Amino acid sequence: MIQGKSLISINDFSKEEQIDILNLAEEFEKKSNRHILPNHVIATLFFEPSTRTRLSFESAICRLGAKYIGFSDTSSTSVQKGESLRDTIKTVEQYSDLIIMRHPKAGSARFASEVSNVPVINAGDGANQHPTQTLLDMYSIRKTQGALNDLNIAFVGDLKYGRTVHSLVMALCNFNCNFYFVSPQELKIPTEIKYYIKERNLTYSQFTNMNEVIPKVDIIYMTRIQRERFSDPLEYEKVKNSYILNSEMLYDTKPNLKILHPLPRVNEISEDVDNLKEAYYFTQALNGVYIRQALLTSILGAKL
Ligand code: CP
Repeated sequence: MIQGKSLISINDFSKEEQIDILNLAEEFEKKSNRHILPNHVIATLFFEPSTRTRLSFESAICRLGAKYIGFSDTSSTSVQKGESLRDTIKTVEQYSDLIIMRHPKAGSARFASEVSNVPVINAGDGANQHPTQTLLDMYSIRKTQGALNDLNIAFVGDLKYGRTVHSLVMALCNFNCNFYFVSPQELKIPTEIKYYIKERNLTYSQFTNMNEVIPKVDIIYMTRIQRERFSDPLEYEKVKNSYILNSEMLYDTKPNLKILHPLPRVNEISEDVDNLKEAYYFTQALNGVYIRQALLTSILGAKL
């Protein structure tokens, strides 16, 4: 039962609940404008920058006929006067039926859900989780591959700090996928994610050279090196150009290969890839609207 629930980690929803969201999103893809939440006010609290997550949530809210309040940075809020996260949440819950929050600190979304009387959706908390991105990634993979089961998936780039990678790997462990992790030594996938895979008797392999995995996989999930998470700028300079995917590297691929990226990109996918049939990242961003419509509808208990 999703109604009334918060979504903080992808594991807060069962595999069946995740699939229910994907199926409902398909209905919104067929017809997006459905004014089924006309009396709801939804808060979007972004303590950290965002383009896609915030705007696709706000687009989803508009297409559902609801209203939104909130902020896209804290410079004009009472956070500047020293207000605590707890007090911000205890205040915003008075004004809204659901809170969507992005925050730079891992664990902040869970904390917000524990003090809030209205459901909280985690729109990204530090390097921890980004569960709504995971659902739209699952939707994009299922749509392009026909199913989520038994796929070979390469994750490339910043696997240490990339929260979208952490959530998506955990979700795909329910679907018997095989993982190829490609990263610089300094940015390898965290040990706890490797344990998570092993505990489920699934396999993964680790690489530093992207070219080794390109011919083998159904999905390449590119990620940006997350400059903002490095404490030492020199460490970022060392790894910032580790992977740059260009069209010439895609000469020997599976026919069903699709390239995903949660975006924003810096330089890790050359623009000459954008018009190839394998490039799916901008449609992936569009899918975020349908997924977020499905989530808001389910959590707020509306019917199509
Ligand atoms: N994918 C994603 O989270 O993008 P934004 O940071 O622009 O929201």
